[in-house]
Amino acid sequence: MSTTTLELDVTDLARHIQSTGLRNRWYGICPTELIGDGPIGVVRLGERLVVWRDRDGQYHVQEDYCPHRAAPLSIAKHLGDRLACRYHGVEVDGSGTVVSVPGMPGCALEGRQALKTYPSIVLRDALFAWFGDELHPEPAPFVPSTRLTSEEYDAFLCYVEYGTPYQFMIENNLDPMHGSYLHADSHSMSEGDRAATFSVRGTDNGFVFEKDGQRDTNFDWSEWIDTSMQYIELEIPYPATGGPGGNFGIVSHMTPIDEYTTACFFWRNRKVSGWQRDVWRFLYKNRLEARHWAVLEQDREVAEVMQPVPPGVEHFYQHDLGVTRVRKLLRKEAEQQAGELTDARSARHQARQETAKVAPGSSPAG
Ligand code: FES
Ligand SMILES: [Fe+2]
Repeated sequence: MSTTTLELDVTDLARHIQSTGLRNRWYGICPTELIGDGPIGVVRLGERLVVWRDRDGQYHVQEDYCPHRAAPLSIAKHLGDRLACRYHGVEVDGSGTVVSVPGMPGCALEGRQALKTYPSIVLRDALFAWFGDELHPEPAPFVPSTRLTSEEYDAFLCYVEYGTPYQFMIENNLDPMHGSYLHADSHSMSEGDRAATFSVRGTDNGFVFEKDGQRDTNFDWSEWIDTSMQYIELEIPYPATGGPGGNFGIVSHMTPIDEYTTACFFWRNRKVSGWQRDVWRFLYKNRLEARHWAVLEQDREVAEVMQPVPPGVEHFYQHDLGVTRVRKLLRKEAEQQAGELTDARSARHQARQETAKVAPGSSPAG
């Protein structure tokens, strides 16, 4: 987390964490196809990052500040196994170690692990990184959806960046009822009852939010899953033109870029194998993908004009149980993370003061 958060009190820190994303999770950074030959600069969870791929094909996610005087490394020269800062040529490798200070060889900066480096991993065409806070620098095991890891599923990554807070996009995906209205004229969400009641069912890592008495007809359920990665699973039936293989699923995962912008990862997936997989891949590329994009555009049009509003402006009804539940979960954990960080920071501060008090008067034993 950025050092600027050191000055925040516990309430503001909780607000910051909630609006820029819970820490101690794996987050998608970008599709790997966006990372070309040179380093690129991105912002994720409000943190400036440089992302690059070394000559052995290994991806790196690091703070976008040169360890010398903080020029962005996203404009550095790519030297194969390291980056050379444009400003004074300091060279840093993928572990964050300064390997050369060409202007002053042998200076103390050489050999120092001076650049914050985020553990990273690639899955289903996306690069992920671990965003641990000061108390959790070591990554938890990466536990993504089995729809992204199992051989039984095939999946296409669809990536968009929207000008809306990430919580709105989470809420959009935990709101099946908008399918029957916002997407009523779409290829997959015109069927079924346009009124419903819902139930919430708790699970080990989240909850399922589902319509009572209607399944596999429209967008009828979605599931919030929070492991070491937060994501939503949902299914929607294809019309007959969708070919064999049953419902299509979406695994959606939101990475806050900052408070107001979101990197959205949608893996459209289907449980298909053999010839059915081939048919789906063909149909997806030739017909279905364009229809899916049209649906997503309807979401974008609403999401990008929604605004955070003060308490009391929204009036929830039963369809919003998924939304209110996930809001509460995110708020509670943001408060918990902020509380633990604030306690640890004040304990460190106190220890430093104790040391400073003892130091001047202390004398060697005896
Ligand atoms: S700021 Fe990068 S080498 Fe000086
Ligand atoms: Fe939608």
